[in-house]
Amino acid sequence: MSYTKELETAISVAREAGAVIREAFTNRGKAATVDYKKENAADLVTVTDRAVEALVFSKLRAVFPDHKFIGEETVSATEDAKTQLTDAPTWVVDPVDGTTNFVHGFPFVAVAIGFVIEKVPVVGVVYNPILDELFHASAGQGAFLNNQPLPLMPPTPLPSLATALVATEYGSDRQDAILGPKFRALQKVVADPVRGVRSLGSAALNMCYVARGALDAYWEAGVHLWDVAAATIVVREAGGAVVNWKKPESSGTDVTKEVYDGLAREVVCVRATKNGVEEIAGIISTIREYLEAVSYPRD
Ligand code: IPD
Repeated sequence: MSYTKELETAISVAREAGAVIREAFTNRGKAATVDYKKENAADLVTVTDRAVEALVFSKLRAVFPDHKFIGEETVSATEDAKTQLTDAPTWVVDPVDGTTNFVHGFPFVAVAIGFVIEKVPVVGVVYNPILDELFHASAGQGAFLNNQPLPLMPPTPLPSLATALVATEYGSDRQDAILGPKFRALQKVVADPVRGVRSLGSAALNMCYVARGALDAYWEAGVHLWDVAAATIVVREAGGAVVNWKKPESSGTDVTKEVYDGLAREVVCVRATKNGVEEIAGIISTIREYLEAVSYPRD
């Protein structure tokens, strides 16, 4: 099954949304853009997040009136995503992933539009309008950055973390019970020793940079479905793996085919490597060894 209409529509809507984000980013000093803080001073939402979500929903609904919709601003303000995510065709949207970056003028900001069927992402568009980087993918059709196939370079081997540049985020929840396990895991990765650690401030872009091959791996606890849905298919179509922290009991030997539960509030992903899925599985198992469970309620 190809999803040409869904993909083309998502790309065109992402570009329209991107124009609104770019304009607001450029002029953000001129108006009060931070509308309110959701949980604390590190968890922001802006008038742009809300305006872009409304725009994306209305444009997609006009073409796909029978589909369902989950968006960061509507769902987090009303009910849980888990009650909304069914097997029906559903658009999952983060209007501005990297809201803190947006507020501070750090140019890693993206609109993320995912299309999910039977809870599996089959189309994903992640567009950073500030750097004009558009990532897109659809099931079986490959992943692309500005129409160049991903990864951008032929994948190199990745035998261990010693040659890896990885990303993670510490998130907006700053209680000891949340930060402790995250920093202990990070300390183990750094001491491994990994080559370097980055935080782009956007889960979707961290994942797309894994697909691109610029990052070797990324993990985070605390992400929501809308942060990861679109980028999941981008990473997979670029030959990488997207998995949960814990290996599912029923999983087979190919880690790139593991079922990923996007409502679980956590993610690990690893890029394609020259030596194939066993090497990806090795990196995932090393990262899994270092991770400690962080208790976020399911989406
Ligand atoms: C957040 C960003 C951030 C990640 C958080 C996300 P938002 O999304 O992706 O990098 O650490 O987990 O919630 O709030 O900017 O859409």
